[in-house]
Amino acid sequence: MAFYHKLGKIPQKRHTQFRKPDGNLYSEELVSTEGFSAIYSLIYHAHPPTLVKEVGEPYSVEPKVAIEKNLKSLSLRTFDVKPEADYLKSRVTLMVNNDLHIGVAAPMGEKMDYFFKNADADEMLFVHEGEGTVHTIYGDLDFEYGDYIILPRGTIYQIEFKTEKNRLFVLESFSPIRFPKRYQNDQGQLMEHSPFCERDIRLPENLKTHDEHGDFKVMIKKQGMIFPYTYATHPFDAIGWDGYHYPYIFSIHNFEPITGRVHQPPPVHQTFSGAGFVVCSFCPRKYDYHPKAIPAPYNHSNIDSDEVLYYVDGDFMSRNNIEKGQITLHPGGIPHGPHPGAAERSIGVEDTEELAVMVDPYRPFQITEAALALQDPDYYLSWLNH
Ligand SMILES: [Fe+2]
Repeated sequence: MAFYHKLGKIPQKRHTQFRKPDGNLYSEELVSTEGFSAIYSLIYHAHPPTLVKEVGEPYSVEPKVAIEKNLKSLSLRTFDVKPEADYLKSRVTLMVNNDLHIGVAAPMGEKMDYFFKNADADEMLFVHEGEGTVHTIYGDLDFEYGDYIILPRGTIYQIEFKTEKNRLFVLESFSPIRFPKRYQNDQGQLMEHSPFCERDIRLPENLKTHDEHGDFKVMIKKQGMIFPYTYATHPFDAIGWDGYHYPYIFSIHNFEPITGRVHQPPPVHQTFSGAGFVVCSFCPRKYDYHPKAIPAPYNHSNIDSDEVLYYVDGDFMSRNNIEKGQITLHPGGIPHGPHPGAAERSIGVEDTEELAVMVDPYRPFQITEAALALQDPDYYLSWLNH
């Protein structure tokens, strides 16, 4: 995150004595990123965060790649993924490269009797359906439809769903997920031309200190494996913290679209960036208002980037037969464009209700077995007029 936040009690000066009412020291932990070169936070624990009781047998959750080299447009119906009671089991990875993995999850809201930590990747959980609270050591984040939940790697969390019907679009980034640099001034503040600002960011709140001893299971994901750890104290035992490194939420409904007289290019929709990819939000907006404008996009060749769209809601202007939760992949290397009739159909239309999340990876995606089970095998032929 690009700005400072703090919750709870912290000492006046870092790295100095900070004592509990009984006279014992709180345990200070520096959580830093990119070595010691990027943003960080300081957390004050009731107990050291190192009290490992047991490490269980690790197991693999490595995605099984079915297509290593792909040059075909694909369409997947992700709402065909069967709901799963357990949160971790519900996560299905669909496309992968060395920079990021994307997938979906349909957890049924079963209470998690464990905590989860992704030690490899920052996570973006886009909430398509469902609501609840993400509990972390930094505090709680209440979420609902349309929220991008950003969890920096290393953040131990537990999701409490209020709903049984939940659909998440999941992105794991092996580099930090950030706001685009061009939206920020040299102090990190979001500038006037940014489609959102700090007021739109929801921060952790209601810090509760769980000063508890027992057996606390933390499932740690690292290098495609889950390592079941058991700790002797509750992972959310902070009395306070401060810094720039913490989870937060941005709602897609707070993205203010940039419109123009003629079709605006995808970067105006950009919301996040990571090393090797961008995330864009396509939101309800006024269409282009040049008297001869064609609101549907032109055909385009992403020479050096695949393009993935996750369709959330509304009528998607450039595509026919699109359902909620559908994913299309248009690979770099071949052009794609509006479906037959879509360009003519868009002329004269004044606004759109479309809502979609786009992920453009700069390196080609490999396609998993789980993705192939969801695909429409004839999608790549869908631009033919017949
Ligand atoms: Fe496109």
